[in-house]
Amino acid sequence: MLKPYNLASKNFLSSLDMTRAEVFQMFEIASNFKNKKLTFRFKDKVLGLIFDKSSTRTRVSFQVAMSRLGGTTVDLNPTTSQIGRGEPIKDTARVLSRYCDVLAIRTFSHSDLEEYAKWSVKPVINALTDLEHPCQALADFLTIKEEFHDFKDVVLTFIGDGNNVANSLILCGALLGVKVRIACPKGHEPNPLIIKKAMKIYQDKNSLQIVNDPYIAAKGANVLYTDVWSSMGEESKMEQKDKNFNGFTIDTNLVNTADKEAIILHCLPAYRTKEITDTVFESKNSRIFDQAENRLHAQQALLASIIS
Ligand code: CP
Ligand code: NVA
Repeated sequence: MLKPYNLASKNFLSSLDMTRAEVFQMFEIASNFKNKKLTFRFKDKVLGLIFDKSSTRTRVSFQVAMSRLGGTTVDLNPTTSQIGRGEPIKDTARVLSRYCDVLAIRTFSHSDLEEYAKWSVKPVINALTDLEHPCQALADFLTIKEEFHDFKDVVLTFIGDGNNVANSLILCGALLGVKVRIACPKGHEPNPLIIKKAMKIYQDKNSLQIVNDPYIAAKGANVLYTDVWSSMGEESKMEQKDKNFNGFTIDTNLVNTADKEAIILHCLPAYRTKEITDTVFESKNSRIFDQAENRLHAQQALLASIIS
């Protein structure tokens, strides 16, 4: 069986590390894995996971994806490896990439991830940084594509913090030509550099809108998406952020403003009563668990393509 697609040896640190064609190829491979139309197995390949922050979905979906591909995973716990004692990233990266065939890294600063990638002799995948969560965006747009078949008339509205998840939705949305609206309180807008990069890609500059009113953003939208108001590492800001985000909960009133067929997405984990109500979370238009499942298929496609 031929390798599904050759992204071999490329890093996946940002949504923009793939071309539009490569993202579509990922969707096709992921769907084929999902529908059991494609079986592809490596021999003796190892994925190293370095997670400086907690994870359920990303960690387990990478482990299961690698297992389905016939490979194995080494899950490195920074507190029990020398990473936690402060061994320089450039040394850790050079050692681990001689053992492993690919590294998936979840850490705080995006520049630390780039440092791993600089010194690793094998591909590095971003499993979330404070700046981006590109694996999440792949699964999210796969879920949207499953629902609407193409992206032509889709309006994706993200209500919440302009953080890593929003940033990756903006970049991947720009690549795919999806209209993206972000609604966040003043002072919580997405990273200006991310907006600038997206604007350079969008043919139509009105395709990306950043507003401070969730009702304006939700009007007629096909997808309503949210994420936690306080991300990992922001625990000390939680009380203040909860106040700042008052009025940004996805509730039934907000859903009624969107298109009546609009689907609800959340990257998880979720805080019901904060960014989303339990009623909306559990509603028939919620695709939150399909979205979580798609992390597995999208990452299986990514690993199959990236490992040489
Ligand atoms: N959505 C997501 O990345 O979940 P985890 O933090 O559980 O990996
Ligand atoms: N923005 C969240 C996403 C979790 C998957 C965080 O960084 O904690």
